[in-house]
Amino acid sequence: MRHRIFVPAAAVTAALLLAIPASAAEPSPGTPGVGDPYYPDYGNGGYDVSHYDLRLKYQPRNDRLQGTATLLATATQDLSRFNLDFALDVSEVRVNGKRARFATSGAHELEVTPAKPLAKGQRATVVVRYAGTPSQVKVNGFTSWHRTPDGGVAANEPEAAWWWFPSNDHPTDKATYDVSVAVPDGTQAISNGTLQSERSQAGWTRYAWRSRAPQATYLATLAVGKFDITKDTTESGTPVINAYSKELGENDGAARASVERSGEIAEWLEGYFGTYPFEALGGYVPNTDTSYALETQTRPFYSPAGFSRGSNASLVVHELAHQWYGDSVSVNRWKDIWINEGFATYAQWLWSEDQGEGTARELAEYAYDSRPADDAFWTVKPGDPGPDNQFHRAVYDRGAMALQALREEIGDKDFFALLKGWPKRHEGGDASVRDFIGYAEQVSGKKLGKLFDTWLYTASKPAAGPTGKSAE
Ligand code: ARG
Ligand code: ZN
Repeated sequence: MRHRIFVPAAAVTAALLLAIPASAAEPSPGTPGVGDPYYPDYGNGGYDVSHYDLRLKYQPRNDRLQGTATLLATATQDLSRFNLDFALDVSEVRVNGKRARFATSGAHELEVTPAKPLAKGQRATVVVRYAGTPSQVKVNGFTSWHRTPDGGVAANEPEAAWWWFPSNDHPTDKATYDVSVAVPDGTQAISNGTLQSERSQAGWTRYAWRSRAPQATYLATLAVGKFDITKDTTESGTPVINAYSKELGENDGAARASVERSGEIAEWLEGYFGTYPFEALGGYVPNTDTSYALETQTRPFYSPAGFSRGSNASLVVHELAHQWYGDSVSVNRWKDIWINEGFATYAQWLWSEDQGEGTARELAEYAYDSRPADDAFWTVKPGDPGPDNQFHRAVYDRGAMALQALREEIGDKDFFALLKGWPKRHEGGDASVRDFIGYAEQVSGKKLGKLFDTWLYTASKPAAGPTGKSAE
């Protein structure tokens, strides 16, 4: 799914007549990336996916994943060949029912040549049969499939899909999802959205999940294991589905004391960000030894380690804040990661203030004061951190300081209008940091270039803190 800009037909015809050389009539291969400077080969050109239907089977005993992905796509050019991003073994590809030739290139590219080229605007049903042992498949030395004693889980950023389904792996091509996974009876499968059905047959239980709003590929998740699934609804009627590994041990209480508050926290966030953008919510905690959490759409992934010091509602605030900032409105390019992390961190500061544990202003000043000017922290630019520092603390903490600085500059009224206006403006789409700066200038009527240069684009400690006090 991609948001289109309307251009009058006459203008299109004129442009075609003037600009396009005769050779463009020949179908050509789609590019192997969307042109993201941090990750040139992520996503693909030439088509657009609107829906993923994943019908899978997973055996925890030997970490074997197999099944069929059916992608509904539309060609965006006359297309002789196109790529999918995928790392497991493919046995068959069909395009509109007919066998297609396929080959792998690089570690995560699958090149598909349909029997007949696709015309621009033509719909394509792409069926991919595959199998693999995802924990064993290393791309650039790592796998985003985390095996657990009773199953496994796909959750990582920005790469997660390659290990469990073929995709156009970039946040600018969002789609809806049906994820149906058969697992041995007594084992559960967790994914995004709502649970449409759960049926057992011949020793296997099939879980069918549906995610109805446009969803980025890295926000699609799958977890298999022995889970306790809890179901409830919020005061306003949104289904809340949470899942806890039955093997959380001593972290079980703290995990539940945090994630069970997801409905309450989402409703609290609505006060700042506007209506919750999705049809369901919740969270899940598999027994992985990972250290991070991830805002997988409607149902964030939490590592047990996040609850080792007791309840952590603040972490739930962070991941649920991403449902607006990151999931409903996604990055246009991965360098725009501040749009996600700066705001999710600022939401934690607002929560702290609400809990009487320190105001956003106090936390912003502390974050500034507690790091000396020669701390490497200040060398990372939150507005363009580079692929290696995409999740550096500076993107989060200096990113949130930038928001406090903005709040001081434009005042609470415009600041909170911005926080609510942005998710509505780009709902279900993607946007850049530059778009946000433009929007902030529009809402406040102020020139903000200097402020954002200081906080997002300078590789040194700003001379004055986020509340205007200067450094000692
Ligand atoms: N967006 C995630 C969060 O802040 C961060 C994920 C970091 N990924 C990683 N592999 N460490 O909640
Ligand atoms: Zn985050």
